[in-house]
Amino acid sequence: MCGIFGCISKQPQNLIKKTLEGLKILEYRGYDSAGIAYITQSKLKVIKQIGGLEQLIKKVKNQPDTTICIGHTRWATNGAVSVENSHPHLSIDGTIAVVHNGIIENYQDCRKQLETKGIKLRTPVDTEIIPNILCYTYNNKHNIHKYLKGQYVFCAVNYKKQSLFIAKKGNLPLYIGQDQQVIYITSDTLALPNSVTQIISMNNLETCEINGSKISFFYLNRPIKKQWQPFNQSFTSSNKNGFSTYMEKEINEIPSITQQIIFQYTNNNNLLKLRQKFQQDLKNTKCIHLCACGTSYHAALILANIIETNLHIRAIAHISSELSETTLLDEPSLAIVISQSGETADTLNCIDILDTKQIPIIALCNITTSTIAKRSKYTFPLLCGPEIAVASTKAFYAAVLVGYLLFNSKTTISSSNLIRNITTTLKISRHLLHIPTQLPNKIFIIGKGINYYLALEAALKIKEVTYLHCEGYPANELKHGPLSMVDNKTLAIAFGTDTANAIAEITARGGKVITIPTPTPSSQLSSISQIIPIQIFALDLALSLGYNPDKPRNLAKSVTVL
Ligand code: G6P
Repeated sequence: MCGIFGCISKQPQNLIKKTLEGLKILEYRGYDSAGIAYITQSKLKVIKQIGGLEQLIKKVKNQPDTTICIGHTRWATNGAVSVENSHPHLSIDGTIAVVHNGIIENYQDCRKQLETKGIKLRTPVDTEIIPNILCYTYNNKHNIHKYLKGQYVFCAVNYKKQSLFIAKKGNLPLYIGQDQQVIYITSDTLALPNSVTQIISMNNLETCEINGSKISFFYLNRPIKKQWQPFNQSFTSSNKNGFSTYMEKEINEIPSITQQIIFQYTNNNNLLKLRQKFQQDLKNTKCIHLCACGTSYHAALILANIIETNLHIRAIAHISSELSETTLLDEPSLAIVISQSGETADTLNCIDILDTKQIPIIALCNITTSTIAKRSKYTFPLLCGPEIAVASTKAFYAAVLVGYLLFNSKTTISSSNLIRNITTTLKISRHLLHIPTQLPNKIFIIGKGINYYLALEAALKIKEVTYLHCEGYPANELKHGPLSMVDNKTLAIAFGTDTANAIAEITARGGKVITIPTPTPSSQLSSISQIIPIQIFALDLALSLGYNPDKPRNLAKSVTVL
């Protein structure tokens, strides 16, 4: 994972501030540690710190004007969380600093080769080999992809040349943006300031060198030309809109997102055309394979159920990382990949497999400029705006709603009823589920059919932000095993009216059960709003335990490693 942000300008200016602002938005990509490197008159200065960005900001006492600054937020994969292991990593001579996202698979070999030249590295982190091979091994850095194995993007500052060097291999995102005065490097366009009017996306096996305002691109050592694309970003993603956390803000956006999605998918000409195209693609399809991870996988499970019920087409939801070359995909099939970020490595890996089987891929994705969107035949946007909190809430709802609209072309949908329903659910959520005075030692969430998939998502939400053990279970299956765990410290939350037997079995053993009322009128879609009280419960419980629900420990929002 990890977030990369950097700035370069002809005239010295406060690029440290700009870099820290960019990193703040990229923090969702990792928050184990953070660091920056910038050029001063006499050297390359590196400041890094463990913990979130706030810790780094405290350490950055001065912000002198500079012409180059790069920064990084880390989600540790290789080497423990420590100041030394944080990025940027410096070459031994202190002239090149590198920030990196991804994994260098042959870094042990590279390390040995550097050792034969007398270069002794300071950390076990794969990244540290990059500034050193750039410094000591290479005459032509644009050849670097021949040397390094794995999937990676990195950005190097060269103090002697006063330049930036960028390289990308594989599917990890990296964008270059520019405004009147500054060129920016970023893992996500969301972090670019609103002044940026043009962007370029780096592609596999490319490298790029930036000197002042001069940019040159290479593909495997061969100079290439790349076109700037217009870019317009008008929102302020860092605004919590009066809420104390992004998670709460994002849950509260669900009613307006619902309105927006229904309006756009039923009125916007481009989307209507795309829906027609999709109907054509569906015609000869015998099986739909849905692939996703985490929360998006739970949306996939619900949509598979909706497809089979409404379209009578076989639909299978796959956890992306479980789809393999041996998975049977023979019938005339269509694949639907679901991803909020559009950068999830496991889902991209799935796309590689689906491509080899020549299965058309359609994406449901929130970030339409993402790698997953680019690699799909076409993309249905989730239209829910930036989701910053690591635990996904509004994007889950949006993915189910967009999918529902696609698999119900004949039904008209009353948005006003639905929105009223969701708004009421939001209002009563805190009355339905109170924070328990005594913490349960385990939580079960039970439901049947779609409600079971909802239970899986509800349990994931509670696990992610409260660190409590919580399991989603099919209501009637509880008695086939897990009932042995139920005692008077167990809390169970039940969805639906068809869980009465399971509820009786739990209460008979001393467990406490809270039932989430089924919204009326009840429909496939209205039942999805039952997730909202659990999202709010997870949020409140996390806060009451003193955890930051926006940044749960050990997790990151965009998981770009396999
Ligand atoms: C990570 C996040 C989850 C998310 C999953 C899939 O694990 O922490 O919240 O559901 O990735 O992400 P995607 O962007 O593909 O929906």
